[in-house]
Order: sequence, then C-alpha cells, then structure tokens
Amino acid sequence: MNTRFHRGRRLRQTPALRALTRETASLLTEDLIMPYFVDEADAHLRREIPSMPGQFRLGIDQLEGQIGEAVDLGLRAVLLFGIPRIKDERASAAYDENGIVQQAVRRIKRIWPYLIVITDVCLCEYMIHGHCGVLTPEGTILNDATLPLLAGTAVSHALAGADIVAPSDMMDGRIAAIRAALDDNGLHELPVMSYAVKFASALYGPFREAADSAPAAGDRKSYQMDPGNAREALIEARADVDEGADMLIVKPASHYSDILYRVRKAVDVPLCAYQVSGEYAMIRAAGQKGWIDENAVMLETLLGLKRAGADRLITYFTETVLKQRLAR
Ligand code: PBG
Ligand code: ZN
Repeated sequence: MNTRFHRGRRLRQTPALRALTRETASLLTEDLIMPYFVDEADAHLRREIPSMPGQFRLGIDQLEGQIGEAVDLGLRAVLLFGIPRIKDERASAAYDENGIVQQAVRRIKRIWPYLIVITDVCLCEYMIHGHCGVLTPEGTILNDATLPLLAGTAVSHALAGADIVAPSDMMDGRIAAIRAALDDNGLHELPVMSYAVKFASALYGPFREAADSAPAAGDRKSYQMDPGNAREALIEARADVDEGADMLIVKPASHYSDILYRVRKAVDVPLCAYQVSGEYAMIRAAGQKGWIDENAVMLETLLGLKRAGADRLITYFTETVLKQRLAR
C-alpha cells in the first residue's frame, strides 16, 4: 500500500500533541475587553437588555459592583458607553465634565487604578436624532463641524482619567482632530484606539436598543462603510494610522475576518476585533434554544478572530470566558 500520503492526523492524536502544535494559542485574560453600558438615569439601575441576555444597562453604583466581580475574575480592560439623561442637537452631555461616562471613569480609576478604561467616543447616544455627527435641518451630516465636538468629548474623557479613547463615529479627520486636541491639552501620551474600519452593519441592532442610539431617521451609510468593501478598509486603516491612531478596531468581527486578516498585514499597530451586539445575540439565542453548544461556539468564534489576525477582542462574552477560568 502506498503510504506516501499526508498524515495530518499524526499531530492530532492526543491532547498533548494538539496542544504542542496549536498555532493560535488559547484565549488569554489580556485578550479580552469588556463593554459596559452606564446609564445616567439612576445609580442603582440594573436593567437587562432584552436582545442581549446577560448584558445590562447599569447605573453607576451597579457598574462598580459588576466591574468589581469581573476584576476578581481577572478582567484587564473595559470599554465604556454612556446613556445620558438628556439628549440635544449638540450632544452636550457627551463632553460635559460631569457626564455619565466622565463620572464612571473617575469612579472606576479611583478604585482600580490598574484597570484599563477605554471610552467610546461618539455622539449618537447624546444626539436627539441619534446620528454620530452634527446634522443640518435637512438631515445631512456636517463632517467638519462634528470634529470639535468629538475632540472635546475625547479630551473630557481623558481629563476624567480614561486610559484610552476610542472614537467610533467614522467622520473623516476625527483622529487628527482628536490627536491635536489631546496634545493641546498636554495629553501627549494618551493613546487613541480608532474604530478605523467600521461597517454599516445590521449587527448593531441590539446595541442601539441597549444604548438608545438608533437614528430617528435615515441610516449610517453615509459615514459607516459598505459591507462589500475590503480594499477601502485598508485605506481607512492606513489613514487613521497616518493621522495618529495608536491602535485600530475592525467591527463587526466574525463576518469580517477577511478584513481582520488584511488589516493585520497592512498596518503594524495593535488590532482589535469587536464582536458586536448582533454577533453576541445570535450565539446566545441559538444557545438558549438548545440548537448549538453555546459555550463551544463562543470559544471557537473568539479563537477564530485571533487566528484571523486580531491581537485583542472586544466582546460581551468577556465575563463568561473569565468565569470559566479558561482565559489565563
Ligand atoms: C456608536 C457605536 C455603535 C457600536 C459601537 N459604538 C453603534 C452604531 O454605530 O450604530 C456598536 C456596538 C455593538 O453593536 O455591539 N457609534
Ligand atoms: Zn455613533
């Protein structure tokens, strides 16, 4: 019998051999960044998000408790989203020094100075109309008029103590504007993590319910990217690095792993994959129905994102993974 064929099974025979030859290491504690929604409505609020079972809108006291438990499990980094009490047409609450994110950052950093606090910098949660930028009365985005508001928001987060600011608006020139504003305020060493490659995705639906940030009219297609475009992703990634981004995010993650792979090759800064709300919701829903082994699918999905090229993962499953003590 001809034995001159490939015997791929040789290295798969035992757990020890498989561990020895695994290319992408298992998930590590430091791979994971946990998003939290902090709601200004009431410090004690703890309201489960219907389309994101296991995720909550948290008042600031509840947030503190939730993060405390996660820190005990090994949590290293959080990404904060704010839900303000008042929305207007200038997103004033976004850059208010006593805004909910600013309060939360001060509180968290006082208690856990070594926990990395990343803040999402965007205006949609703070605008009456739910768009990520300033709008004309006709509903057109005013890109350049939006930049100072984003820069002001980033500076106020940084002054509150944020370790990293993460702009998610997809306006042109925002990284340069934010970098300049940080530098003008003496914050030369504050890193910017850019949502450089953010697609106009239907997978953000549960988030918009969670953050109360759906556009009242229209959609985000004039600023977020067309899901059909991969080369454009590289243009966006390089532009943001040129403007001063220190780290990049690709978002969504699972259906865009080709993008992760290409961006990883195109730029050398640390790269995060954001497994978004809809990705989380799909895995949880199928798991709750008993149609998939939820835990196994979760781990396989996250590992796949690392294999595709993500250095770090922003995922609502962070606490779940940490609880299993799988991430070590
Ligand atoms: C705000 C923002 C969104 C997400 C992160 N930042 C929503 C959007 O752009 O509509 C989505 C996160 C998720 O779906 O988990 N610009
Ligand atoms: Zn936004």
